[in-house]
Amino acid sequence: MSDVFRQIKFNDFAPESETFFQDTLKGLSQEQKTLPCKYFYNKTGLSLFNQICKTEEYYPTRTELHIMQFYSQEIAETLGSKCLLIEYGGGNAEKIKLLLNHLTQPACYVPLDISKEHLKQEAEELNRDYPSLEVLPVCADFTKDFQMPDPNSEFNRRVVYFPGSTIGNFNKEQAVALLKNMKRFLSHSDGLLIGVDLKKDKSILDRAYNDAEGFTEAFNLNLLQRINDELGGNFQIDQFEHRAFYNENQDRVEMQLVSRCKQAVDIQDQVFHFEKEEAIQTEFSHKYNAEGFAQMASSANFTLQKNWTDKNKLFSVFYLTLD
Ligand code: AVI
Repeated sequence: MSDVFRQIKFNDFAPESETFFQDTLKGLSQEQKTLPCKYFYNKTGLSLFNQICKTEEYYPTRTELHIMQFYSQEIAETLGSKCLLIEYGGGNAEKIKLLLNHLTQPACYVPLDISKEHLKQEAEELNRDYPSLEVLPVCADFTKDFQMPDPNSEFNRRVVYFPGSTIGNFNKEQAVALLKNMKRFLSHSDGLLIGVDLKKDKSILDRAYNDAEGFTEAFNLNLLQRINDELGGNFQIDQFEHRAFYNENQDRVEMQLVSRCKQAVDIQDQVFHFEKEEAIQTEFSHKYNAEGFAQMASSANFTLQKNWTDKNKLFSVFYLTLD
C-alpha cells in the first residue's frame, strides 16, 4: 500500500469471496450452461478488455468518450456545482477526469468497484491529481447490498455515474433491479448519468464482438483459464471456441464458448459433460434506443431528462432524475 493510498479511507465490503466457485458450479449445472460475465475481470481479463476498447471494431469506448468530450460543458451545467459523484464500476480514470475537469467544484468522488486493485490505482491517481477532492473508494459488488460512506464535504446534489454501457450486461429485470437499488442513495434533486449502447445494424455489432486481432476471443476464453487457475478446473482451452453474434429478436449481443468436441471437464470433484457444439452462455450485451431505455428506467421511477449522442447514433449518454 503506498503512502498516498494510506490517506484514503477505503470501504471494503469484501465482495465475491467464495461465490466464484458456487456461481460456476451452478451455471455449468443448468440445462443451458452459463457463466456470469462479472468473472471476466481478473488481471488478465481487465488487460484484455482494455485492448478490446482500443480496437477499430469496438466503437463503444471511443464513442462514449467523444460524447463526453463534445458535450462536457452541457453535461457539467446539468450536474451543477458541488456535486457528489458516485461512479458504478469506477476505474476508467480518463472518463472520470474528463467529467471532473469540467464540473464546478466537485465535492466528493465515490468510485464503486468489485476489483480492489482497480480501485486502488484510480483512487491514488485522483488523490494526487485533485488534492481538494474527497475520494471515498468502495470495494463492493454493486448488485449486492453495501453501505455508502458518509462524506465530510458539503454537496448540492448526488449523481450516480454509470459509464461504459455496463447496464447492457444485465437483462431488463436485473437492470430495473439495479436502478431501484441505486435509489437507496438518491433523493429527489439527484440524478443518474449513464452510458448506453444503442441498437444498430447487425453487421456493426457482429464485428465489434469479433475483432480481427482476437482480443475478444481471448477475453472470453480467459474465463475458462480463470476457472482452471482459481478453482482447480481442467478445461482444455483449445477445445472451446469463441462465438458472438447480435440476436435481433432479443436486442442483444450473445457471447458464448462452444465445445469443439464431446468432452468432460472436472472442477475439483465435479464432472461436467459437453456435447460437440454445446455452448456456455457467457455474456449478454443488450442494446437500447432512447424510448426503450426511458421505458425500462421508468419502471424504477427514473425519468429521462437529457440524451447526448454521436452523429452516427451509435451510443448515448442519458441523464435521468427520480420522479
Ligand atoms: C463491459 N461491457 C459493457 C462490454 C460489452 O460490450 O458488453 C464487455 C465486452 N464484452 C465483449 N466485448 C466487450
